[in-house]
Formats: sequence, C-alpha cells, structure tokens
Amino acid sequence: MKSVLVTGGAGYIGSHTVLELKNRNITAVVLDNLSTGHREAVHTPHFYEGDISDCGLVKSIIRKHNIDAVIHFAAKSLVSESIEKPELYFRENTIKSCSFFETIIQEGVKHIVFSSTAAVYGITGDKPIRETAPLEPVNPYGESKLMIEKYLHWVGKRHNVKWAALRYFNAAGAALDGIIGEDHNPESHLIPLILQTALGRREKISIFGDDYPTPDGTCIRDYIHVLDLAAAHLSALGALYEDRLVQNVYNVGTGAGHSVKEMIETSETITERNIPKQTDKRRAGDPPVLVADSRALQEHTGWKPKYSDLQTIIQSAWAWHTTHPSGF
Ligand code: UFG
Repeated sequence: MKSVLVTGGAGYIGSHTVLELKNRNITAVVLDNLSTGHREAVHTPHFYEGDISDCGLVKSIIRKHNIDAVIHFAAKSLVSESIEKPELYFRENTIKSCSFFETIIQEGVKHIVFSSTAAVYGITGDKPIRETAPLEPVNPYGESKLMIEKYLHWVGKRHNVKWAALRYFNAAGAALDGIIGEDHNPESHLIPLILQTALGRREKISIFGDDYPTPDGTCIRDYIHVLDLAAAHLSALGALYEDRLVQNVYNVGTGAGHSVKEMIETSETITERNIPKQTDKRRAGDPPVLVADSRALQEHTGWKPKYSDLQTIIQSAWAWHTTHPSGF
C-alpha cells in the first residue's frame, strides 16, 4: 500500500482515519469539498478541496499520487435531513459515488473501503444484528448507502475490484491527544449534545422518549470509539490486499449496548457536573435497540475494539469539548 485516497478526510471519521494512516507511515491524500468537514481536521500535507464528482480532479490526484486504494467517506450523513431532502441524499451519496467509483476504477484502482451504515438494516429487532439481517432501510440515508453496496457488488465483480463496506454503528469519542474531535453544525448527536450541556453551552439535554421496550425505557445504541473505527478501515484494507476477506460487508461495533440515560449518567460522573435533562417525545425513525454483531470483522481481519469502553469514549470526547468549546 503506497498512497491511499481518503474522500471526506476532513470529516469526523475520515480525519481520524487519516491520523491512523499517518501513524502507520502510509501516505494519506485527502479530497473533501468542506461542505461539512473542517480544513483544520486534516493532518496530511496532501489536501485537495473539491468534489468527488469532479472526474478531472479525481483522475489527476490518482495519477499524481500513484493511488491504488481508496477509502470513501465523503457523504451526507444525517438521518433527519435525509427524510426532509431525499433528492439531496440520492444525489450526493448515490449518484456521485457511482460516478466517483467509475472514474477510479477506470484509472486502475483495485482496492476500495466504503463507509456504510447500520441504517441499512432499519428496524430488525435482532440483538445483536448480524450482517445477514434483512436490509430494509427506514430512511433515505440508509437507502442511499445500501444502493452503493449493491453497485460495488456488481461493478466490483465485473472489474475484479476488491472492496469492503463497513456498516458503522454509533461513532463516538475523539483522538486521545485531543487534536481532533467531533464537530457538526448543527450538532444532532447525543454525546456532543450531552457534553455541550455539561459545559453550559446548552440549557438541557432532551431524552427522546423514555417509554421504549428497554430496561430503563430509553434507546440503546452501540457506541464505537472513532479510533477503533479508523483502525477497522485499515484492518479491512490490509485484508483486501492480502486477499483474506471472506465477505464484502462488515458491521463495526462493540456488541455492547448503552441506553441514553446511561450515557448521561456516565457523563455526569466523568465531567463531575450535573447535566440538566428533560424527557421529550420520541424522535421519528429511532429504533429502540441497535447493537452490532461484529464478530465477522474480528475473525476475518484480527481487528478488535480497544478504546470503546464508555469511560474512554466520554473522557476523550470531554477533553476535546473542553479544549474546543466552539469546535475547530
Ligand atoms: N438522542 C436523545 N437526545 C438527543 C440526541 C439523541 O435522546 O438530543 C438519542 C437518540 O434518540 C438515539 C441516541 O440518542 O436513541 C443516539 O442518537 P444519535 O443522534 O447520536 O445517533 P443515531 O443512533 O440516531 O445515529 C447513528 C449515526 C447515523 C446512522 C444511525 C443508524 O449517527 O449516521 O446511527 O441508525 F445513520
């Protein structure tokens, strides 16, 4: 592996993956249109501001940097926005990814890791969810990603491209040295909202429903540290190069679920602050429980989560938020 093109490398998961590549002495080349990402998050000298649909730019990057592997993160990723603006999601995530993959495959790229999501499953009721669970997305975001998994299945077969799609559960936490972290605008994710409330930047945290069929009535999610997610991409890529992958699609999570109330309580303990909270009505489209079975990824690549205990997740996120209260 010489140089890896990382699209969306200025985003939350992409920027942590760029750092992980750097730690392993692999050159990362970032292409990001900065529509949601942050230039300050990019820790590689090889940065291109531009769109994945700009075929000329993509070709020139691949030739200049001798790219033969791509990690494709660039996408819109808000479930609620996707319900409001489905056209935007199919254009940005599906149509543009097809055109991007067509270009890189024409240029001879043979290794692809694609950023997929647990949203491809919809409401399964399975605990934990295996990759073989029914694929029934309940929002355009999940559907827009699932279409690309299917595209890769057929196109990869035809052009002999090795690919893996990683279906993430809930990415969380920040780099342990505090140099990068999570910064969305507007913020909609649970942990940043809890910690911004602890910092006094928000009045209270809303608990979206406490009448779910779970032990404390609040939703359960599988929070995976962003550093473990970043490492999962490199494990998948390494296995693609060595032809060790047994399947194309892998869940990435920890197998452990935590409720919204548990996240707030643990945050109160770690921050040593009282966090004002209020129960609100359920948020549309939230499944009660989403927990990953990611044994396949572990067995086929040797990947294992190292930082995904709640303490490390919340402590690292807290360090990021206290030092960057307004984000980047
Ligand atoms: N929640 C609250 N209050 C808030 C924000 C969130 O109670 O103010 C709850 C949600 O209802 C949910 C949990 O906290 O139960 C986590 O919510 P997030 O918005 O942080 O994350 P999601 O589980 O909704 O979304 C994640 C990823 C998406 C992905 C989705 C798949 O961020 O990209 O999982 O279901 F599509």
